[in-house]
Amino acid sequence: MTANDPFGLRSLTVEHLRSTPGVKWQQHPDRLASWVADMDFPMAPAIAERLRSIVDRGMVGYQKWGAGASPAGHAFVNRMSAKYNWEIDVARVHDLADVLQGVRLAIGMLTEPGAAIALHTPAYHPFLHSLTDMDRRLVHAPFDVGELRDVIAVERPAALLLCHPQNPTGHVFDRSQLAAIADIAEEFDLIVISDEIHSDLVYAPNTHIPFASVSAAAQSRTITVTSTSKAFNLAGLRWAVMHVGIERFDTMLKSYPKHWFGSPNMFGVEAAVAAWTEGDDWLAAVMGVLDENRLRLSELLAEYLPGAVYRIPDATYLAWIDCSILGDGDAPFEIFQSRGVELSPGTQFGAGGSGHVRLNFATSPAVLEQVVATMAGNYVS
Ligand SMILES: Cc1ncc(COP(=O)(O)O)c(C=O)c1O
Repeated sequence: MTANDPFGLRSLTVEHLRSTPGVKWQQHPDRLASWVADMDFPMAPAIAERLRSIVDRGMVGYQKWGAGASPAGHAFVNRMSAKYNWEIDVARVHDLADVLQGVRLAIGMLTEPGAAIALHTPAYHPFLHSLTDMDRRLVHAPFDVGELRDVIAVERPAALLLCHPQNPTGHVFDRSQLAAIADIAEEFDLIVISDEIHSDLVYAPNTHIPFASVSAAAQSRTITVTSTSKAFNLAGLRWAVMHVGIERFDTMLKSYPKHWFGSPNMFGVEAAVAAWTEGDDWLAAVMGVLDENRLRLSELLAEYLPGAVYRIPDATYLAWIDCSILGDGDAPFEIFQSRGVELSPGTQFGAGGSGHVRLNFATSPAVLEQVVATMAGNYVS
């Protein structure tokens, strides 16, 4: 840690990362880990202190949070107001264990088996699996809103599963796109499930706009799901949150016994509160490194892997790279694996994934360079 790097984000080495216990570095111990969407950065000190203080107190019994949302649910309401001027009622906020739980609850409870669900592709692969597992039909949603309307008019899906910002492309839907999507949702009576888990990871001058904040009409047909797990690297703590704009879904959820959905883990809740109320300095430092890395990656690819096509993402720490110069399908992924780097294979993300890989650049600049040099079979230690 130095004055320029107070959180130790720039000094990470492969040797140290290999000693970390998570799935990212342990799953493929013989390869550099640039796959699953966990960052290599240690958690924010404010979060660590908060968790430590709970352990020091020594009491982790049932919490007196009262009915309704946990303290993290309240922190969510405050953050949406402060960051986006999106004013929401805490009575419509539900705690979850993870974001996919909310996505699946909404699909399962609001649409019927066999129903069509629109999704921008390439898509975060657990969305694709969710549709298959739940016997819903995938409708490929084009990113262009004019084309999207045409597809929706023909396919008549029950819902649009919006990934905003989008994984794996890093696309941020801007206000005019969101307004057009809201109009389409209104015209064709779509439910919108908006996964905004990457919303704290948007690079300036782009800004995040919660889909449901676009209009009262949009909000009344939208379920928004998010968490601190991506931007603050807390996925193992199992907490997420859902805002339910659809009144009948809120009524349905509240009509079930609370135990059916479980209740949140206090460490996840406390970590989320610390993240959203005391973690913004750390997040700004992380965004500084990520911003540098997303730009540097362009230069590294030009130097080591000319022919790879990479559009610098507007959000997320995920780079969606067209390596079809090395072959179709997952041939590039396999080549990089054989050279010692574990990426996410493009076909995992469905349509548009052939010849692509997804690279997670949430690491130190030195490790990023080692990754790209190793992908090129060119790393000299
Ligand atoms: C778009 C998106 N949604 C959901 C998740 C998973 O979140 P959770 O573990 O809270 O279900 C991820 C993880 O990478 C993601 O990228």
